[in-house]
Amino acid sequence: MGPNYSHQTCLGVYQVGTLATFQNGLLLIFFATVLLFYTTSLFRKTNKRKIPGPGSHFLGCLTNILALSDKRKSLKVFESWCATYGPIFNVNLGPYKIAILNSPEYIQKLLGSTDMGYLGKGFAYKPLKPLWQDGLILSKGEKWKFRRRVLEKHMFSFKTLLTYMSTLNEEGDKYMLKIGERFASGKEEEVEDLLMNYTLEVVTSAAFGKSVAEMDSFANGELNITDTINRGKEIVATRAFNPCLLLDFIWRLHPLYKVERIVIQSLKLMGAAATMDNRVIPGKKYRAGIKDDLTAAGVPVDGIIEESLTLMSAGYETTASSIHFLLLLLALHPEHQEICRNEIDSVFEDVDLCPSGQLQFRALSKLKHMEMCVNESLRLLPTVFFFERKIDTPLVLEEDLVLETGTEVAFLVQGLHKNPKYYPDPEKFIPGRFSEEEIKSRSQFAHIPFAAGPRKCIGYKFAMMIMLSFSAKLLREYVLETTEKLDEIVFLPNVTMSPETPIKFRIKKRLNK
Ligand code: HEM
Ligand SMILES: *[C@@H]1O[C@H](CO)[C@@H](O)[C@H](O)[C@H]1NC(C)=O
Ligand SMILES: *[C@@H]1O[C@H](CO)[C@@H](O)[C@H](O)[C@H]1NC(C)=O
Ligand SMILES: *[C@@H]1O[C@H](CO)[C@@H](O)[C@H](O)[C@H]1NC(C)=O
Ligand SMILES: *[C@@H]1O[C@H](CO)[C@@H](O)[C@H](O)[C@H]1NC(C)=O
Repeated sequence: MGPNYSHQTCLGVYQVGTLATFQNGLLLIFFATVLLFYTTSLFRKTNKRKIPGPGSHFLGCLTNILALSDKRKSLKVFESWCATYGPIFNVNLGPYKIAILNSPEYIQKLLGSTDMGYLGKGFAYKPLKPLWQDGLILSKGEKWKFRRRVLEKHMFSFKTLLTYMSTLNEEGDKYMLKIGERFASGKEEEVEDLLMNYTLEVVTSAAFGKSVAEMDSFANGELNITDTINRGKEIVATRAFNPCLLLDFIWRLHPLYKVERIVIQSLKLMGAAATMDNRVIPGKKYRAGIKDDLTAAGVPVDGIIEESLTLMSAGYETTASSIHFLLLLLALHPEHQEICRNEIDSVFEDVDLCPSGQLQFRALSKLKHMEMCVNESLRLLPTVFFFERKIDTPLVLEEDLVLETGTEVAFLVQGLHKNPKYYPDPEKFIPGRFSEEEIKSRSQFAHIPFAAGPRKCIGYKFAMMIMLSFSAKLLREYVLETTEKLDEIVFLPNVTMSPETPIKFRIKKRLNK
């Protein structure tokens, strides 16, 4: 049986009023549960050193949950906690208590370690589990280690990364035309949907050797990848940071729970599409993607499906949003746009680096200022603003400061990235912070947009290639402008960080080239 897309109307039936009453009921059940947990946790022994944190007083979890209930302010609340409480602090969320590591030194002790006890994920990933199953982001132990090695050796090896350049050129050029069409009138327009479609296309091609349309044509056109992933995201965004909905027995009562069942069916179909054989298109040489790599390594079909779902979900939106924010910052800083453009021009005018307008892999490493801009934009607006581990080995931070087995440890990326000790004048966009000298003088654990250590984003090099090649093509052809003000844009913790209202740009054809 194929997926049933009637959930489209299904979503439409919730009235805001009934949903609110429903959630109030949930809140009551939730607080009863909190009280129960709280009384038991009062007797748990703690460190010799007292760890500070918001809401550490009796029932402080209520103030924390209230502080986070306004999504428009959540990211700012995270930032202010990081600025207030120092290198480590606890956040009390009732049944969930999280230690936040907020200094590069402490972060290095955890992320920099190869101890398998530090590589497991925590409760915050729970809403992802039904959708992404036990793929690379969520798996742990030997299973994670083995799959990680196979994917690193094939999909993300240097040799394979080189082969992605042709897709990046082809799709990049296609989207430059689309951008030209959209902005031809000279009006302010948004660009996010184009970026999303672009990254979906390049990630799909890299992972499966197929286009999105080819995937969608599977199962007699019953699959709609874009739609499926976005619905999945909506579910995750609803559950994440809502401790009520993280409790399964409450979630099962939520109207979106039924939608989740349907999305899971579609996701399975998508995974199955990833495992189908490639059609041979004359003149096109596709890599068969992870299907062949994993099959050769003895991974069964179910495993290929879960890794497919994971790669798609992890790779496309993060990269699109990161390009989006980079374009915003470049539009706000024409002086850096100009430096990048000069650099880009010299690459495009070099026949070795860019024969007939086709960027070579080597060309990307020449885009030094561009790379600094990318990293500085990932510092200021890290799309993955939060990630978490649950430790199975005690973590010794200081002699009198040890995190016990079972502790949930999280990272508030944006807060860490705005520590003036490492980044003076932290709100300012200063790409020079990523010059060779400055990088050397700073811990690498002070910049963690892709996490760090053995469980660093497996796609970070690919993501850098996508961001660099796309923005190089864009700045070669166009000039970016915007009337937005950075401090007036509200960013929401929407799985990945996303602006509340679409960011508007003016993208004009370059006159002198
Ligand atoms: C700018 C874009 C990207 C950002 C900011 C980003 C960020 C991250 C972060 C912070 C993690 C660690 C999450 C955690 O520990 O829970 C991660 C993991 C991961 N990312 Fe990315 N990512 C990006 C692009 C990509 C791309 C393009 C792919 C694949 C095509 C990808 C695939 C993955 C996978 C599979 C993992 C799990 C790795 C593991 O646990 O071993 N990401 N990413
Ligand atoms: C992006 O892709 C979706 C789904 O394939 C499509 O409906 C939409 O028109 C595309 N948007 C743009 C701007 O190309
Ligand atoms: C996929 O779903 C989206 C949203 O419902 C819709 O706009 C788009 O046209 C659909 N694409 C296809 C190919 O059916
Ligand atoms: C930018 O960040 C990436 C990903 O962490 C890293 O590999 C690269 O060396 C950084 N480049 C600069 C110039 O800081
Ligand atoms: C979250 O992101 C989705 C997809 O990008 C978007 O449709 C939705 O409106 C966003 N939610 C909020 C609250 O902005």
